[in-house]
Amino acid sequence: MCGIVGYSGKQNSSKIVLEGLKTLEYRGYDSWGIAVQDKNQIKIFKEIGEIKTKLSMLPLPKTSCAIGHTRWATHGGVTMTNAHPHISTTKDFILAQNGIVENYTPLKNMLKKKNYKFKTQTDTEVIVRLIEQQTNKEDTFRDSVRGAFNMLEGRNTIIVLNSKQKENIIAVKNGSPLVLGIGKDELFLASDALAFTRYTKDVVFFDNLDLIEIKGNKFKIYDSRTGKEKKYKITKLNSKVEEVSKGKYDHFMLKEILEQKDTISKAVNYKLEEIKPLIEEMKKSNRIYITGAGTAGFASGQIAYFLRSISKVDILDIRPYDFTSYLPILKKDDLVIAVSQSGETADTIEVLEYAQEIGSTIACIVNVEGSTIHRMSEFKYLIHAGPEICVASTKVFTSQCVFGYLLAKSMVGEYTEAREEVESMSSELGEYFSEKTFEHIKGLVKKIRGRNHFFILGKDQNAYIALEGALKIKEISYKHFEGFSAGELKHGVIALIDKGTPVFTIISDDMCSKDLLSATEEVRARGAYTVGVGSSKFKGEECFDYFLPVVKGKGLSSIANVIPFQLLSYFLAVSLGNSVDKPRNLAKSVTVK
Ligand code: AGP
Repeated sequence: MCGIVGYSGKQNSSKIVLEGLKTLEYRGYDSWGIAVQDKNQIKIFKEIGEIKTKLSMLPLPKTSCAIGHTRWATHGGVTMTNAHPHISTTKDFILAQNGIVENYTPLKNMLKKKNYKFKTQTDTEVIVRLIEQQTNKEDTFRDSVRGAFNMLEGRNTIIVLNSKQKENIIAVKNGSPLVLGIGKDELFLASDALAFTRYTKDVVFFDNLDLIEIKGNKFKIYDSRTGKEKKYKITKLNSKVEEVSKGKYDHFMLKEILEQKDTISKAVNYKLEEIKPLIEEMKKSNRIYITGAGTAGFASGQIAYFLRSISKVDILDIRPYDFTSYLPILKKDDLVIAVSQSGETADTIEVLEYAQEIGSTIACIVNVEGSTIHRMSEFKYLIHAGPEICVASTKVFTSQCVFGYLLAKSMVGEYTEAREEVESMSSELGEYFSEKTFEHIKGLVKKIRGRNHFFILGKDQNAYIALEGALKIKEISYKHFEGFSAGELKHGVIALIDKGTPVFTIISDDMCSKDLLSATEEVRARGAYTVGVGSSKFKGEECFDYFLPVVKGKGLSSIANVIPFQLLSYFLAVSLGNSVDKPRNLAKSVTVK
């Protein structure tokens, strides 16, 4: 949540920062701002909402040093006053934050007593005033920033532009991500390397509490607690530099949905020898946990399902924000598998930090190389889905699930079969993504778009697919879609069904199909408008008013079943005129708790 960019070098700094912010806009789009160092002054430009202003219209001088911020509001409404970066009273420095100052109330009260004035409702302004307070006490500006930072509680990463020293940026990382890019005579700082990978792939990742000071094209890293200089390692990013553009599509979401034809194959592009170390670790672990939030949580659930049902692995699937009661029983010889797109989700990282402290082994299934979760893990599996920009996750979900399927099948000696199944699903998807399919789904959109409450029934292999299908639609259509296990129906939920209520049933050709057909009959008998989603074998069943056939997908049929919901979500949101890629109130990377 929130994106930070900094630049010092030979190019026009506002151009680089603007480009970087545009790339990081998925992290928050409530407001944005850029500050440039112009001789001994700071010039600022801020705007509410998405980045619409082009570089040519930006009223900022061409300079060599700038910082920027794109905001997802935590403290204080979406206003120009609350938009970052925030300037100091004397205009000597300007600061932006990604995170939350958990102790901002006592700090603010303390500062107010000392007559410091506040103009915004943000927690970030507290950091600005704290630095002002420290400048009267410390010798160097770096020590003032350090002194202020050490008073903060919570996960917060800050970036500060100092006007008094030429091309001087200071940043401190704690919890929220930050990476340094080293180009030729230029340096970049960003919450995600994607902001600058078109210029350099040489990066430095930081530990929590690292302080980075840039002066021109030189930098040094310090321990923010002790102030001592630290050594660092330059890493070359392996991932192909992917141009983040919508191409011929109106929205990233549709582009990313259609990419699944290829991304599922890339996710399983591992040799058996590369998967074996994790299998061995799973075998010797005392207990295995798998965790992830939101869509990644549903992917964890689906992976756990594959591991239990295919390879008889005893695995506990726990959401990271619900982990508290498991912490006392987590042991050194346990394995925690984290599932995440960004690798930066605060709730998930917190569980891993605890696991690290007690010495449990950590494995991950993530999309972003070099992300915090990726670096914290001993067993690292990248799913290589490429940048996922739409806030609503699509291709990463299916990639994580197919990787889980490969893992489960490899454990029982069916590695080759799993790879073949993924390949065959990939070619089936090539045909499935057609105008015919889109028109059929749009036909359903016309029938249901006026309704506000919807239900999705799934069971067994499709239980998590029902939850993920519902989340996808909620996120961008803002309609109340509820997914649940068909088994729950008669225990209460059926009371919500009345005339015309759309009820979706996910049906695979498996031992649950009879139960699902009966459940559909039961809701239909109470007036529901029933939609079947799944194997075409059930297309002609009378209990369905509408049917969305899905590719066969063999053992992967459950994963394939999520795709019609992704498309339905997309076409429904488009028909409602909603912001598809940047839905209200959300951000792609949830780096605060
Ligand atoms: C997905 O559509 C979501 N916007 C959200 O639930 C997301 O999956 C969740 O925040 C976890 O993110 P991560 O995969 O980056 O850890």
